Amino acid sequence: MVSESIIEKIIDDLAEKGWSCRKNILPESFLNILLNEALELWNNGEFNKAGIGRQNNSYIRPEIRSDRIFWLDENNLSCAQTLYFDFINNLKLRINKNFFLSLKTFEAHFAGYPKGSFYKKHLDQFQSVQNRLISVILYLNFDWKEVYGGKLRIYLNENNFEDILPEAGTLVCFRSDLIYHEVLKCTKERFSLTGWLRRDEGVFPV
Ligand code: OGA
Ligand code: MN
Repeated sequence: MVSESIIEKIIDDLAEKGWSCRKNILPESFLNILLNEALELWNNGEFNKAGIGRQNNSYIRPEIRSDRIFWLDENNLSCAQTLYFDFINNLKLRINKNFFLSLKTFEAHFAGYPKGSFYKKHLDQFQSVQNRLISVILYLNFDWKEVYGGKLRIYLNENNFEDILPEAGTLVCFRSDLIYHEVLKCTKERFSLTGWLRRDEGVFPV
């Protein structure tokens, strides 16, 4: 579904700078299916308030993040989600090979940002369990405009950053332990499919 040459570019980006942003990597029809799946869940009230921290110790901190999430069940994926997981699996194999890692699992959720929501500057790796190694975000918003805000801000260092529009078909990957990032306040509902490639807990000293 995603060409080998794009996967190659993502690997090169990760090696060079620890993050990657590639636009239009998937067909519009496919993105539309994923968006509609997210919208149906959203409209049925299936998204939950997102917490900070790990699942069992997670607590709601609306001053830090105000998005809502719906975790995908890897044993109960739709066709489109299965295709996406196949692509991620391919990406995982390439990352493992190139960086001598042993990424094993992928956890993913749809994220919905209601109007006015945001996610303050943070790292995706938890301090307690450092098994999230690579964050992968696929945006699902067609015709996203600058005025809607909701940009992903990737921090290159303390003083410099790069902003990314959450436009449908843009895929962002980054090192979960290194890359600080934030979601700027949006003025329109904003959807994505966000996931993490993980090594198994306890496999490496942390
Ligand atoms: C996250 C996150 C960024 C985005 O869910 O941890 O940082 O652009 N998302 O949605
Ligand atoms: Mn994050």
